[in-house]
Amino acid sequence: MAVLETVVIAFWAMLPAYVPNNAAVLAGGGRPIDGGRTWSGSRILGDGKSWRGTFAGILAGLLLAGALTLVADDVSAAIGFEVPAFTPLAAVGLAAGAMLGDILASFVKRRTGRERGAMFPGVDQLDFVVVSLPLTALLATEWFFEWFTWGVILVVVVLTPILHVTTNVIAYKLGLKNEPW
Ligand code: CTP
Ligand code: MG
Repeated sequence: MAVLETVVIAFWAMLPAYVPNNAAVLAGGGRPIDGGRTWSGSRILGDGKSWRGTFAGILAGLLLAGALTLVADDVSAAIGFEVPAFTPLAAVGLAAGAMLGDILASFVKRRTGRERGAMFPGVDQLDFVVVSLPLTALLATEWFFEWFTWGVILVVVVLTPILHVTTNVIAYKLGLKNEPW
């Protein structure tokens, strides 16, 4: 597979996992998931993980997966190679897995003494990949192994931190996010 094709497929296949984080930032606020509860002196998750942000994020990922699926055939014909249409379970795995990964990362951050918004290099950039890919492999096994070849996975691991840093710096400069990470 040509490198450009691999990059395009990786980006396309990951879009339903990328968008939930951004949608959560835009929609976030309101009741925190942990209800304000603490565990051994620190918040379980913190105010940065809200119900509204989480559901908005998952919904945005699902809607995007639906929209990409509608145009997948036309786009494939136009570019001369196939990009994936998403099965419902693949969409759920990617979108819900991304939000779950982000939530688990906050759990780990609070347990390691990091306040809300503190930087955690590596974890901030890849938390959603680490959960969304295995969850999708579990929920939509056949679909996952058809599209997530080793080459695609390698591109995802390299591309995701770059995209994450870029979009967060933009969101910070636009005043949408409190920190540029
Ligand atoms: N957000 C949300 N619900 C989520 C994820 C994010 O409401 N499940 C919103 C919150 O307003 C959050 C913002 O998006 O402050 C930025 O997300 P993130 O960087 O993940 O949260 P932080 O505030 O940095 O908190 P943490 O240290 O727990 O990551
Ligand atoms: Mg953060």
